Amino acid sequence: MNNKFPDPAGLVRAALSARTRAYAPYSGFRVGAALLTGEGKIYTGCNIENSSYGLTCCAERVALFKAVSEGERNFKALAVASDSQEYCSPCGACRQVLAEFGDRLTVYMVNNTGEYLVKTVGELLPARFSLLRDSAGE
Ligand code: THU
Repeated sequence: MNNKFPDPAGLVRAALSARTRAYAPYSGFRVGAALLTGEGKIYTGCNIENSSYGLTCCAERVALFKAVSEGERNFKALAVASDSQEYCSPCGACRQVLAEFGDRLTVYMVNNTGEYLVKTVGELLPARFSLLRDSAGE
């Protein structure tokens, strides 16, 4: 395993499990996310859809907002999974929201058998928008 990244087995399992709680009656596309804090705590999220489609919230943002609203600011890694055999890649909006808390966050993009691709948020969203000075490459 690449030592640059933590062992993601537990985080990957948590994302696959969170996927089962998705509320996705419109797309039928279930997504689960699991976010690891610097202290080792895991917050999970699933996608939550709405009759007014644009109000849907992605699994990654649900996990992040749960964590931030509990006082967390320091994140190490995120795993995101769907039912697809394709690796589940965070959408552009989620990349921007995740990057708010650090470009170095490790993202495990998981498929339905638990295999994954790994990249940092900075790699997924280079030259992101920021109002905070000196935060590029944070
Ligand atoms: N979705 C996520 O939860 N995360 C992503 O990064 C991409 C898309 C959800 C939103 C919607 O409920 C379903 O997947 C289909 O777009």
